[in-house]
This record gives sequence, C-alpha cells and structure tokens, in this order.
Amino acid sequence: MAFETALTVASPESFDTPFLAVVLPQGDLPQSLAALDRATGGALSRVIAAGDFKGKKDEVALLYPERQPARVLLIGVGKAEDVTRTQLRRAAGIAAKRARTLGAPTAALWYTSESRGKVSWREVAQVAAEGALQGAWYFGEMKRPPEEPKPPLERLTILMGSDAEAEMTAGHRVGSAIGAGHVAARGLQVLPGNLCTPEYLGKAAIELAARFALTATVLDGKQILAEGMHALLAVAQGSALDPRFIVLEYSGAPKSSRPVVLIGKGVTFDTGGISIKPAQGMEDMKFDMSGAAAVLGTFEMLGRLKPKVNVVGLIPSAENMPSGTAYKPGDVVKSHFGKTIEVVNTDAEGRLLLADALSYARRFDPACVLDIATLTGAILISLGNIAAGVMGTDSALVQEVIAAGARAAERAWELPLWDEYRDLIKSDIADMKNSGGRNAGSITAAWFLREFVEGFPWAHLDIAGMDNIDRDDPAMVKGPTGVGVRLFSEFVLGRAVA
Ligand code: BES
Ligand code: MN
Ligand code: ZN
Repeated sequence: MAFETALTVASPESFDTPFLAVVLPQGDLPQSLAALDRATGGALSRVIAAGDFKGKKDEVALLYPERQPARVLLIGVGKAEDVTRTQLRRAAGIAAKRARTLGAPTAALWYTSESRGKVSWREVAQVAAEGALQGAWYFGEMKRPPEEPKPPLERLTILMGSDAEAEMTAGHRVGSAIGAGHVAARGLQVLPGNLCTPEYLGKAAIELAARFALTATVLDGKQILAEGMHALLAVAQGSALDPRFIVLEYSGAPKSSRPVVLIGKGVTFDTGGISIKPAQGMEDMKFDMSGAAAVLGTFEMLGRLKPKVNVVGLIPSAENMPSGTAYKPGDVVKSHFGKTIEVVNTDAEGRLLLADALSYARRFDPACVLDIATLTGAILISLGNIAAGVMGTDSALVQEVIAAGARAAERAWELPLWDEYRDLIKSDIADMKNSGGRNAGSITAAWFLREFVEGFPWAHLDIAGMDNIDRDDPAMVKGPTGVGVRLFSEFVLGRAVA
C-alpha cells in the first residue's frame, strides 16, 4: 500500500502509535508538552535538562520512554519567532524519513503550538503533508527484497487540537495533493533511460488523464513532423526511440479564462549526441526529463485538488543520442516558429525541444507560459543546488514565480536577460545558433528560448542542479527531488479563483 498522511483530532499523550514525532522550538520544554512529559515518565524534560536537545533547526532526539508511545522523536525548528513554512515542512520530512528507516508501520506527528511561529494552522497542515510525503519517499522496486524486510511505513497521522480542525483540514487537503504530485514526479525521475522513454512519458500522461478525467493528446514522430516541429525532430533523429509531444489540459475554470501553460523539458537521456558528454556522471542524464516530471506531477495535483483555473501542460520528449542518423554540429534546422537554427553543439538540445513547444503554446492564447528545464550546467556553477535560475519577459511574472518558489521551498533567483547577451547567439548563416559558448551560458540559453516567445508573458526556470541530490538529507533520501511540482502548484493555486 502506498504511503499516505491523515489528520485527526487527538492529543499526543493519548494517541496510540509506535512512533510519535513532536515538533518544538528552541528553549525549555513548551507548556503544551507537560502532559506528554508526564505520560512518558519525564523522558522529555530529562533530555532537555541534560542539554542533549536544544530545539535547534533540524536537531533531533530519539527517546524510548518506559511507557507508550514506543518511540518519541523530538524535532527542533529553531527560534519560535523565526519559524518558517520551510522549517515546519522539513520537520515532517525528518519525522517520516526516520519512521520509515526505523521500520515503524505507522507514525504520528504533533506540532506544538509554540513551534509554528507566525505560520497559520492551515499552512502547518499543508506543509506537514508535503514534508511527510517527501520524507517517506523511497525507491526500492528494482532491488531484491532484503532477508528480513522492514514493514513499510503506511501512514503518518498529523495530530491536531480541535480549535485548529477546520483550518488544518483545508490545508491538509492542499498539501496531500501537492505531495502526491511531488511523489509522482520523483517516481518518473528515478526511472532509468531504458524504461522512462518518450513513449513511456506519453503513456504516463494518458494514464494520468484517464485517472482524473483530464485531456491528454500525445503526438508521435509522424504527427510531430506534420506539425513542423523540426527542432524537436532534429534532437530525436539520432535515437532509435520515436519522440513524443505531450499535451495535457486541465479545465477548472470557464473557457473564457486563459490558461497557464507549463512546459517541461523531457529529454529521457542526454548523451550530448555527437557533441558527446564525458563518461563521468553521465548516468545522471536520466534526470534530463525532470522538467517533464514537474509538469506531470503538477497535473497529478490538479487532478486531485480540482482548483478553479485552466492549465495546459506541454512536454516535448526525445532521447539525445550519437549515431549515424544523429544531427550534427553545423546542421541548420527550421523550427516550428519558422526561425532557422544553426546547431553548433548537439548537447544544447533542450532549448531546441523547448523552442518548438513555446511556439506551439501560442495556440492556447495563454495567460502566461512557464517553462522548466534541466537546461544548463552553467546554472549549477552560478547557483549551486540551492536555487533555480529564473529569467523572463515580464518582471511581474518573474516576481510571481519567485514568490511561489519561496512558499514552496524551491527557491528561484533571477538572472538578467539584457539585450547585449543576445549577440552571443548570432549565427553567420541562420537566424541564430543554439549555443553561445561558456560565458553566461544560462542567460544565452534563455535568450535562445526568448526568440520563440510571442504574444504572452513568459518565464523560464533552469533547474539543472536542483533535479537530484547526491547526498542523503535528513528530510529526503538522495536521488530525484521532484523540484518544480511545489513551485508550479503554488503558482497555479495562486492564480485559481477561490
Ligand atoms: N541537460 C544538460 C544540462 C545539465 C547539465 C543538466 C548538468 C544537469 C546537470 C543540457 O542539455 C546541456 O548539455 N547543456 C549544455 C549546453 C552547452 C552545450 C551550451 C551545458 O550546460 O554544458
Ligand atoms: Mn545536453
Ligand atoms: Zn539536456
């Protein structure tokens, strides 16, 4: 059974559970934990008095009280006055990850009223569900089961006071849907390139649409050719795998309401093509469809939550391979938009796919278009794995994206798209070339995309560096991060009418 979160009115000292996580701020034992402290025979006050738990951010203490519950995990969130949604979300992630690794079949989570700072109970429940779904996620399906398998963590119940019930119920509904989208995205990201192909992504979209009565249209190579998407086709032509162009439509608002269009890069494996990448770390290029996963994950959220907003998802998907049929440096291709592109580097393939998708987006008369892509190694050099790069044609839209990212704990940071950078992608023989070289690599990539933006406000998210982590985090296992689902969810929910 898949992991889920639940919500119930109960006090931590009376709820029967094999694992109880308690979130508390820095300082003395909060007043609200007096009853739990008594019930555990003073285990909480003892660990605090000993100075072994101070309640700092991400700090934990695992206790085994004489009486129930079997295990109590104290989780710190730092100074009460500075507590953020991000820290409260992390606390749930730490709780779920620890419960899972300990082999607890179920768990409970209690936020002391002292721990939430200025965050509303509604938001606490939202980020608790998001964090728990993030922390519990683990991919073991391709391993042989261990000799003595641990029971899987099936449920984490968020405990609440009756005064907070209405608010938390509303927040939990949102957080569960976003968390489910996040889980779905990571499940796609983690799959290797031999399984997660363009065809597979197309089927995932159709399955998703069937489950939630959304519309999915999946174009194959022939239909992509008929559409005139020669930039996408150029990338695909070196691969034995047929490309796909996926269109997802969610209608939660009247037809007159212009849609938000989300575009995700779906390169299911990026070898670099003829401009081939070094072998070292190339396996991580299975994550080059992380933008596509973010879009599909967002539609999982939409299907569950059914907000009053219209959203279109576009996923151009191909595999970038070197072969006798592959596109070559120097090739000139005509894009769907009509502009010609000189391909100077076959490893700058993402922008080619995205160019055709941006051009296709025009037919939806979008309110705005956001694209998300593992586009440039340069963004990793600029921002590390702490923030995504964002650039766009409309400063209000860019600010809206940054604000959504802040709420989602998926930070975005703006880079300048000044006109002077455009010069770097001038071509001698075509309308532009597909790479401007190493200097300002993330910006010239965005400038390239901008050449295909017409008639709508647009912002681009470069998530190379955010798509996977190579080290375990207390709130998440290493591997795919599902980045973009929470940011897109906050964005589209921010545009929904109440
Ligand atoms: N998928 C890569 C970008 C990438 C790099 C993602 C590292 C994740 C981690 C993209 O297709 C690419 O190869 N970009 C090139 C562009 C260059 C040839 C202009 C790059 O960043 O080196
Ligand atoms: Mn590439
Ligand atoms: Zn790529």
